[in-house]
Amino acid sequence: MFYFGVDYYPEHWPEQRWREDARLMAAAGMNVARLAEFAWSRMEPREGEFEFEWLDSAIGILAEQEIRVVLGTPTASAPPWLMTEHQDSFLTRADGRRVTYGHRRNYSPTNAAYREHSRRIVTAMAERYRDHPAVIGWQVDNEFGDRDYQAEAFRTWLGERFGSLEAINERWGTAFWSHEYTAWEQIPVPLDTGGKPNPGLALDFCRFCSDSYVDYQREQVEILREICPEHFITHNLMGFKYDLIDYFELVRDLDLVSWDNYPRGFWNIESDVDHSRMALGHDAMRGLKGKPFWVMEQQAGPGGWDIVGATPRPGELRLWAYQAIGHGADGIVFFRWRTARHGTEQYWHGLLEHDGRPGRRYREIQRMGSEIKAIGERIAGSETRAEVAMVLCYDSRFALQVQPNNPRFDYAAQFHDLYRALTREQVAVDIVSPKTDLARYRLVIVPSLYVLSAETAANLERFVTAGGVLLVTARSGVKDETNAVVERPLPGLLAELCGVTVEEYDSLPAGVSVPIELTGAFVAGVNVSGARNGADAGSGAGSVVAASGAASSAGSGSVWCDILAADGAKVLARYGGQYYSGKPALTVNRVGRGAAFYLGTVGDRVLLEGVAKLLLERAEVEPMGVAAAGAAAEGATAAIVPSGVQNAQRFPEGIEIVRRFQGDTQLLFVLNHAGEEREVNLPDSGRTLVGPEVRDGRLTLPPKELAIIEGDGARSEAATG
Ligand code: GAL
Repeated sequence: MFYFGVDYYPEHWPEQRWREDARLMAAAGMNVARLAEFAWSRMEPREGEFEFEWLDSAIGILAEQEIRVVLGTPTASAPPWLMTEHQDSFLTRADGRRVTYGHRRNYSPTNAAYREHSRRIVTAMAERYRDHPAVIGWQVDNEFGDRDYQAEAFRTWLGERFGSLEAINERWGTAFWSHEYTAWEQIPVPLDTGGKPNPGLALDFCRFCSDSYVDYQREQVEILREICPEHFITHNLMGFKYDLIDYFELVRDLDLVSWDNYPRGFWNIESDVDHSRMALGHDAMRGLKGKPFWVMEQQAGPGGWDIVGATPRPGELRLWAYQAIGHGADGIVFFRWRTARHGTEQYWHGLLEHDGRPGRRYREIQRMGSEIKAIGERIAGSETRAEVAMVLCYDSRFALQVQPNNPRFDYAAQFHDLYRALTREQVAVDIVSPKTDLARYRLVIVPSLYVLSAETAANLERFVTAGGVLLVTARSGVKDETNAVVERPLPGLLAELCGVTVEEYDSLPAGVSVPIELTGAFVAGVNVSGARNGADAGSGAGSVVAASGAASSAGSGSVWCDILAADGAKVLARYGGQYYSGKPALTVNRVGRGAAFYLGTVGDRVLLEGVAKLLLERAEVEPMGVAAAGAAAEGATAAIVPSGVQNAQRFPEGIEIVRRFQGDTQLLFVLNHAGEEREVNLPDSGRTLVGPEVRDGRLTLPPKELAIIEGDGARSEAATG
């Protein structure tokens, strides 16, 4: 079933209004609402006294309109009676001070009293609603978050994991600066007041903080699973950008991944919405379980607390929601139903205004609701099939938070730049963990795998040997799992696979970039024939396959330059400046039936787009749905370019193509994020489910419009297998 609905807070409004709300929801085609997630003080107004009648009544009113309910456990914001009684349950900040009452998400996830109260309210809710026919699932807490600088809990965690102080001293190399611990009470948390911490301690602290939410969530999951075995359990995550919890670990206990998608808020009022940022969020969240997900909070209006963000333009709410569906969402829940009159989020707008009137935004979503009624069943459960994967490593993210290496070395930005360069070519990308079996992919990109285990290195080697194409970028293989620098030439455990060693590196000041010059091998293209077929998987420069115009401009590197020695790898590009002018910057090494590329710098857009095209060709990955479209210029019309044609221009700016598969049926989503009309050419037209029809092989999309076309996907399935 496809779910379409809203986050609803009936407790903010008089009960007389609830029927009208439910009627309007049903009239907008909605079939689900999330409730109760911040309603602890209404459900347990005094310790141990539960009042659920109001919630029964709200659920009942929604059920009359056939709206199902996801219940949120309310533990992200506790009532004052709890927090004043348990002052030690407040979270401790990096400056060593405890948070005080006034906001939300202010609790320590390891605090015993807080946990006991959490278990109690969750148990009471679960028992109350276990058999309610309208209740289908649970969201645990809300957006697990901040690090809690609790020394005692950290020490317990260390003890459970590493057993002895000797082991910990060894692990962190505490002989440095005489930090050898002789009693558990001596071990600090890395407070701001302590200065720059030992990197081993700091990485373990990041892992501890992440684990403490995984553990806190598990307690709630266990209760819900036992009492409500028929209901699904999720948590609303925060997308790709959030980097304080290892999300691969967090979702292990959940049935369903959901996340909160806010493309436009008060934080980006000055800039345009970047549709690839949302796409990356969706792909990263789908990748956590490799399954369809929900957007539990999809933006419904201007976002604002004290500052009001720009209002979503006509068509954007619907377009963004369809983008989520194209990337794998099986549920879209808009945040929030009606704009609140009180509280910190007075200006975080819902579908309805403060006065409760349905307006432009409601009507837009109502239109989408009627479309979803018609096509939801064709979409629900359909899968995404990608031939390209990017490896997301939370350990590396954590370690780079501890030591960014260069003030502008930004793991997430680099990841996103590579993702953007790939997806500009309209290929599907999975975001996977370093432990994922990569056999099903043709191309795998590994941005700055800074902390590298032997297990992951072996995984990558297996992938390449079997015929895969791999790209590794600078600052990979630098640290072992204890956050010690490896005792071998960089990129450490990947040096042999990549056929390069880093002789020296250069951390560049702001504003300095180094031109990149392509060698003949890059310009000609490497031999792309049949890595999968066992043919020459080629690092040879002999066979000429054009690299889609990549040679026209080579771009530049900045922030970081690895000065490489090619030990068996072929040099594809060299630095064109600094004292290392002429030294390799990009290489490829043939291994088994595959090839490992190494990029030693942080590339600009031109360089990354060139590299992306080269890699996609080398791995024989083709664009989705259409082969290519011309006219890169703003506002221009795309030309028809059949599949396989080389040197095609890029797709028009703002066009995004994604697809899902339901068995042999393909659902092609063509989205126009641009503010102007765009044309796209589709070689095989199928049946249009939503949006304008394809005419004479050409689809014309007005600004912020989209089309969903159902077609035969059998071929693509075979290709991915
Ligand atoms: C989300 C959060 C919601 C609401 C929303 C708008 O991050 O889950 O509860 O606060 O942002 O601010």
